[in-house]
Amino acid sequence: MTTLLQKCADWLKGYHFALRITERGKVVSVGDGIAWIKGLPSAAIDDVLSFTDGSHAVVFDLTDEMIGAVLLHQTENLTAGTEVHLHGRQLSIAAGDQLLGRVVDSLGLPLDGKPLDIAGHVRRLDILSPPITARDFVREPLYSGLKIIDTMIPVGKGQRQLIIGDMGLGRSSIAIDTVINQKDKDVRCVYVLIRQKRSDVVNTLELLRAQGALAYTTLVVGEASALPGLVYLAPFAGCAIAEEWMARGKDTLVVYDDLTAHAETYRELSLLLRRPPGREAYPGDIFHLHARLLERATCLAKEQGGGSMTALPIIETRQGEIASYIPTNLISITDGQIYLDQALFAAGFRPAVDIARSVSRIGGAAQNKRISHEAGRMKLDYLQFLELEIFTRFGTKLDPAMEMKIRRGRILREILKQDRLHPLSAIYQLAWMIAFNEGLFDGFVPENITAIMGLLEKKVGMSGLTLESDRTDWGQSLAAWLGKP
Ligand SMILES: Nc1ncnc2c1ncn2[C@@H]1O[C@H](COP(=O)(O)OP(=O)(O)OP(=O)(O)O)[C@@H](O)[C@H]1O
Ligand SMILES: [Mg+2]
Repeated sequence: MTTLLQKCADWLKGYHFALRITERGKVVSVGDGIAWIKGLPSAAIDDVLSFTDGSHAVVFDLTDEMIGAVLLHQTENLTAGTEVHLHGRQLSIAAGDQLLGRVVDSLGLPLDGKPLDIAGHVRRLDILSPPITARDFVREPLYSGLKIIDTMIPVGKGQRQLIIGDMGLGRSSIAIDTVINQKDKDVRCVYVLIRQKRSDVVNTLELLRAQGALAYTTLVVGEASALPGLVYLAPFAGCAIAEEWMARGKDTLVVYDDLTAHAETYRELSLLLRRPPGREAYPGDIFHLHARLLERATCLAKEQGGGSMTALPIIETRQGEIASYIPTNLISITDGQIYLDQALFAAGFRPAVDIARSVSRIGGAAQNKRISHEAGRMKLDYLQFLELEIFTRFGTKLDPAMEMKIRRGRILREILKQDRLHPLSAIYQLAWMIAFNEGLFDGFVPENITAIMGLLEKKVGMSGLTLESDRTDWGQSLAAWLGKP
């Protein structure tokens, strides 16, 4: 009894009389991942709200009478009349190396059933991108391990390269191959899966694990079955995780798979919150939303630690139509695009990259000088061949020089085919380009090229030649392996 009295006396001693104002709100209606709330006059956009039943939401829309909030966690007890308070913080995630090899949701909570140490550095999900003065030029290449990309559509560290095409043409495969190729290259990867089925999430996870890529990769998942608010936040969470590593001077790669689903989720939320619809019913700020996200990918200046964030956003087209709203937005935001074509995929040319419609606006400057020298006119010559080939279909008689161009074009087409999960080193890329430019493949028929390329890969691996080796050394070794034409 005396101890209790003593405790009360202590508490009273420390008590300060003051006016404390706490705001309370009440849920008016709830459904479809949205809650309408009355009260809370000082609530601002992006404030986190907590409900007395344990649910959480974020303020998304403010009207004169009500607050429109997007739910991030919902219990079964959340109904109209539930009390709401301001949580006093904005959306953030605990980023850091503890996330490597893990699968988390948009708030950084583990989805792989294992405990997660959340002591990492807390980063806001949505922040301003680095100012121009903090940035550097894109100078270093980021190899995808794919012949067609590393030679003709090169990507640099800090670049934003769009992967665009109809569904099922191998968009995710290109992104996954690029992640797998970062093994032992000190590039930390974040793979953001947006509104994908759980089976697809598991497939991606297992694929990365089997290829040994999980050790340097974090998966951020906004599942199809999750609340739309969590799906909407997934790319921002992935970006914040990579940003933390970038701020510590590391190179990072973020894949957004895919932003079409993200745009649709944002449209759904906006329509539910009765925002005025614009073109294709998307809200007017959809361009700003994606520009805000992708502008955070950059190469930081030396004084800022020199880290980088390369972004590979993926976008889906319908019937190859790249002129619709979201694809044109993203094409104009990014530094280039890798376009996948249905006809090429059907003809067995995989990865089905359409070189004519693919471009890398800044990667060329970052490409290895030797590779870029060998690549020289290769893209133009190949495009010329594709046009010439159409003429030959009409039985047109061609002069020997043209016929040679067509023969070499057909060989190059075979060379550029590549199986998935088979990344190739930069040295090998240099080797086949020198061999091609020296005409060492000219004596082969296209059907034999796959076997020859396999042999070349083995020889290059054992040769000890490097990217810096003399071209005549390369030429002699290649001629010995492939035989003089
Ligand atoms: N280089 C390749 N060689 C052979 N097959 C490939 C290659 N790239 C992709 N594929 C096959 O194409 C199919 C579609 O690939 P993927 O799932 O990557 O495409 P997507 O565009 O991401 O499809 P979705 O619309 O389902 O997201 C898969 O069956 C995959 O195995
Ligand atoms: Mg996919």
